[in-house]
Amino acid sequence: MLAERLKLPLHQAETEQAPFVLELTRDGLQLRWTTQPKMQPLTLDYTRGAQAWRQKLGGGKQEAVVRAIGLGHNVRPSVLDATAGLGRDGMMLAHAGCNVYFLERHPGVHALLDHAIHQFQEAHAAEHWSSKRLHMLPAGSLLEAAPLPNHIQSIQPDAIYLDPMFPEREKSAAVKKDMQFLQALVGPDLDADGLLAVALNLATYRVVVKRPNKAPFLAGQTPSAQVPSKKHRFDIYIKKAYPKQAV
Ligand SMILES: C[S@@+](CC[C@H](N)C(=O)[O-])C[C@H]1O[C@@H](n2cnc3c(N)ncnc32)[C@H](O)[C@@H]1O
Repeated sequence: MLAERLKLPLHQAETEQAPFVLELTRDGLQLRWTTQPKMQPLTLDYTRGAQAWRQKLGGGKQEAVVRAIGLGHNVRPSVLDATAGLGRDGMMLAHAGCNVYFLERHPGVHALLDHAIHQFQEAHAAEHWSSKRLHMLPAGSLLEAAPLPNHIQSIQPDAIYLDPMFPEREKSAAVKKDMQFLQALVGPDLDADGLLAVALNLATYRVVVKRPNKAPFLAGQTPSAQVPSKKHRFDIYIKKAYPKQAV
């Protein structure tokens, strides 16, 4: 049963009040915000809509996240997306050719992402790149256990990507619906600073951190380089250069 597999409480009746409920409908898995009935439920579908279109194009090297991870002529680094969220950035990297490992600690967000990734893989033939490049890890965190569990240690990612929730992200209508959901469901990631040292230890070549333009550096640590974008910047912490031949 889905609730059991996801280790989430099963709500039998509409009358039970939980602020967020995951529902498996004919259209797929959706997250409903019960205290905001005017909000359309949040669904994740990488197979259609604007997101699929953007990602197809975004596989191009012009996307800031792709440039920050640093894809070269022969370089397609493996990436641990350690704050995977709704997987938009990770999917972009996978479209661009990276092997991406998605790690997310919030069980509801993890469930949506897991479902969307499976759905995307199932929509394509077995030999499609998605079955080789997309790896959903069990719900968890780089901050949970020391030493890290084997299924994380053994990845030995070339790069780690971090995009924790920033406490002062705008609350205005300008914030996209999915971000509003995340802000309300997950809240600010107040322990985010701790991620940088663990990530720098685990990544072979670099760690990339997405920050709102106005935000201070994660853990107060100055990056080696930056890639700017409209509202965000990508802080790059380089441990060593990628080798010239394929990674
Ligand atoms: C801003 S969202 C990430 C958005 C993502 N980059 C995307 O493109 O959809 C941040 C996510 O990171 C998750 N997160 C924060 N700290 C984490 C940690 N230490 N381990 C795992 N997940 C974490 C939060 O639960 C949240 O879902």
